[in-house]
Amino acid sequence: MIKIKDIVKGSSVEGFYLVKSGNIKISSNGKQYGDYIIADSTGEINAKLWDVADEKECPATGTIIKIKGLVTEWQGVLQLRIDKFRAVSEEDEFDIMQIIPSAPESPDDMLAIIKDYVNKIENSQIKQLVIRVLKKYSPYLRLHPAALKNHHSIRSGLLYHTTTMLKLADGILPIYPFLDADLVYAGVILHDICKTTEIEATDAGTAVEYTTEGLLVGHISQGIAAIAIAAEELKTDSEITYMLQHMILSHHYEPEFGSPRRPMFPEAEILHYLDMIDTRMYDMQNVLESQDKGTFSQNVWLLHNRKLYKKTF
Ligand SMILES: [Fe+2]
Ligand SMILES: [Fe+2]
Repeated sequence: MIKIKDIVKGSSVEGFYLVKSGNIKISSNGKQYGDYIIADSTGEINAKLWDVADEKECPATGTIIKIKGLVTEWQGVLQLRIDKFRAVSEEDEFDIMQIIPSAPESPDDMLAIIKDYVNKIENSQIKQLVIRVLKKYSPYLRLHPAALKNHHSIRSGLLYHTTTMLKLADGILPIYPFLDADLVYAGVILHDICKTTEIEATDAGTAVEYTTEGLLVGHISQGIAAIAIAAEELKTDSEITYMLQHMILSHHYEPEFGSPRRPMFPEAEILHYLDMIDTRMYDMQNVLESQDKGTFSQNVWLLHNRKLYKKTF
């Protein structure tokens, strides 16, 4: 199966790809055609399915299909002409990680890591509250991306972001023994959990768009509400409830980034920095991956418009 990054004009294509987005359009001769973005983990390409008789027979967005086609060029841009396609069946064998940019660890392994950290929480009220919220959101957690476009916008990205932050916390907690590890672990596990309802994702784990609830309310306020509901059900102590809610609401630090308060205790402060470290390292690694050694990247908007340098050694 040819990787999209290796495609050139004239490449014949046969293999499994993701239908990232698509529309039915009308060509200049009045016939319907399908206009798609087809992707694998290495990139994406515009694809056309000419002379569509019935819209219902077209590939569905967010699904993986087997494609046979040829790469042509139109106005200097590569374009894949889809000659044949079919939906995948249970007998098909392919590596999903080659098709959809995915977290490097399996959802099962990452969920097991989170479970280990939940078990480390000694305060039974904090522990029960985390278990309650996790249980509610776990059906959506396995494959969910952590963002629409930016950091961790990959399959199972939310689990990856959460587990990396938990591991980071383990590096920092012994250096500052006055920190309450229970609050830090709980804050990490819960801080972005409502991205599962903020961002709509396909069954394949790709982000589609913000949900209505996500746009109108957002994962911070949704997270605070989720904690309130669980705390009410469990009759959690009010101080614990407010402290956990404060950690969620202050984790973006600045009002212009969605936090109505800046952190008011050290565990909330450290949660923000754990989040920042993981976000920044992910974005920097991502930019440098496709960069040649000894060169600077383009200005990266996400990283305050900085250029990044890739070392030669
Ligand atoms: Fe967040
Ligand atoms: Fe986060």
